[in-house]
Amino acid sequence: MKIAMIGTGYVGLVSGVCFSDFGHEVVCVDKDPRKIEMLERGEVPIYEPGLDTLMAKNVEAGRLSFTLDLNAAIDGADAVFIAVGTPTRRGDGHADLTYVMAAAEEIARAADHYVVVVTKSTVPVGTNRKVQEVVAAANPELDFDVASNPEFLREGAAIDDFMKPDRVVVGVESDRAAKVMEDIYRPLYLRDFPIITTDLESAEMIKYAANAFLATKITFINEIAALCEKVGADVKQVSKGMGLDGRIGNKFLHAGPGYGGSCFPKDTKALARIGQDHASPVSIVETVIKVNEETKRRMIDKLLDLCGGSFNGKRVAVLGVTFKPNTDDMRDAPALTIVPALVGGGAQVSVVDPQGRREGEALLPGVRWEDDPYAAVEGADLLLILTEWNEFRALDLGRIASSMATARLADLRNIYSSSDAEAAGFVAYDSIGRVGYGL
Ligand SMILES: NC(=O)c1ccc[n+]([C@@H]2O[C@H](COP(=O)([O-])OP(=O)(O)OC[C@H]3O[C@@H](n4cnc5c(N)ncnc54)[C@H](O)[C@@H]3O)[C@@H](O)[C@H]2O)c1
Repeated sequence: MKIAMIGTGYVGLVSGVCFSDFGHEVVCVDKDPRKIEMLERGEVPIYEPGLDTLMAKNVEAGRLSFTLDLNAAIDGADAVFIAVGTPTRRGDGHADLTYVMAAAEEIARAADHYVVVVTKSTVPVGTNRKVQEVVAAANPELDFDVASNPEFLREGAAIDDFMKPDRVVVGVESDRAAKVMEDIYRPLYLRDFPIITTDLESAEMIKYAANAFLATKITFINEIAALCEKVGADVKQVSKGMGLDGRIGNKFLHAGPGYGGSCFPKDTKALARIGQDHASPVSIVETVIKVNEETKRRMIDKLLDLCGGSFNGKRVAVLGVTFKPNTDDMRDAPALTIVPALVGGGAQVSVVDPQGRREGEALLPGVRWEDDPYAAVEGADLLLILTEWNEFRALDLGRIASSMATARLADLRNIYSSSDAEAAGFVAYDSIGRVGYGL
C-alpha cells in the first residue's frame, strides 16, 4: 500500500515509521521545514525510545521518506492519514479543528484519484463527516471516502503500542474504504490483534470515552490518596488491594501529582464540551477536570508545608519535569503548575530532566538546568521528585541528604518510602497518599 501521513508529531511520525515497517510505502509530510530537514538528515525531532533505529531501517529500505510537498506525497497514495494536532481551543474547551480542516482542504486540492482520507487525530464526534464535506466542497470531482482511525499509542512506549495494540479501531462507511484499511492493517490482522470496524461516530466516541475513563481512574486514586493521608492509610497498599480485583485492574492506579500530557487534559475538556453541546452533560468527566486541577494545587500546599510556609529564599532541586518518563513532551505537565509556583514564591530552582530541557527551557523561565541530580541538590533546602524517570529511582539518598542545606524530600511519585528517607538522614519527607514526617 502507498500511504501519505500528514503531520510528523508524536502520532504521525510513529505511525508513519511503523506502517513503513509493515512493508508499506510511506511518505510523511509536515509543514514545519525545520522538522522535515531534521528527518531528512536522519534525526528524530521528538524523543521516543527506539524510533531512531526503526526510522533509519525503513529509510534505508526505501519505504519511508519525508517531504514538505503534500502533492508529491499524495501522488498514487491509497490512503492519506491526517495526524495533525487538535489542541484545546482558547476560551471554550472545544478541540481546535483548524489544522484538521486545513489538512482536509489541502488533500482535496492535491488528490486526483480515489483515496481514503483517514483521520488519526483525536477529533470530536461528527468531525469525519465535516472532513467529508470539506473535501467534497474543495474538489467536487474527487472520488474518495473518509475513515476514522483514532490512535491509542502512549508516548514512551509508542512503537510497542502501535505494533502490538490492544485493539485497532476503524470507522468507515463503505466496503471500499474498509478494504483499504484492512490491507493497511493486514500485518496486525494476521497476528490476531483485535480490529474493531464500526461507524464513524462510534470510532470517534471510542477514543474520547477511553481517554476520559483512564483520566477518571487516575483522578479517582488521586482523590483516594488525599483521603489516605488524612486517615493514616497507605495509597500504595490500597491501589494494590484494589488493582488485584480483575474487574478493576492495576493499571492507572498510581497516585501522583495529577495527570498531564498531550491527551488527557485536552480530551477530557473536549468530551465535556461535546456533552454540554448535546445537552447530555458528562458530569463525571467535568468533575475529573476540576479535581485534577485541585490535585495539582494540592501539591503546592504540600511543598509549602515542607518549606515551613514560604518558598522565599529556599533552594529547591526538581527531578523530572516532563509529564511522564521516557518522553520529552511537556504539554500540560504538572511541572508547569508547580515549578512556576516555586519560582513565583521566591525559590531558587534547579531542574534535572533526561529529555525535558529542549522543550522546558522556554516553558520554565527562571530555573537553572543541571545534568546531574547530585549537583542539583547541593546546598538545597528541598528535593522535589516530579517525574519517575528510571535514573531517579535508585539515587544514593544518603549522599543527597548530606549534601543538602536542609534535607527535605517531596516524593510526588512515591518511588521512595518514609523509612528510606529517614534512614538516609532526611529531616522531612512527604509523598502522595501516605503519612510523611517532619511536616
Ligand atoms: N501524543 C500522543 O500521545 C497522542 C496519542 C494518541 C492520539 N493523539 C492525537 O493525535 C493528534 C496528533 O498529536 P501529536 O501529539 O502527534 O501532535 P503534534 O503537535 O506533536 O504534531 C502535529 C504535527 O502536525 C503538523 N501539521 C499541522 N498541520 C499540518 C498540515 N496542514 N500539513 C502538514 N503538517 C501539519 C505540525 O507541524 C506538527 O508537526 C492529536 O489529535 C492528538 O490528540 C496523540
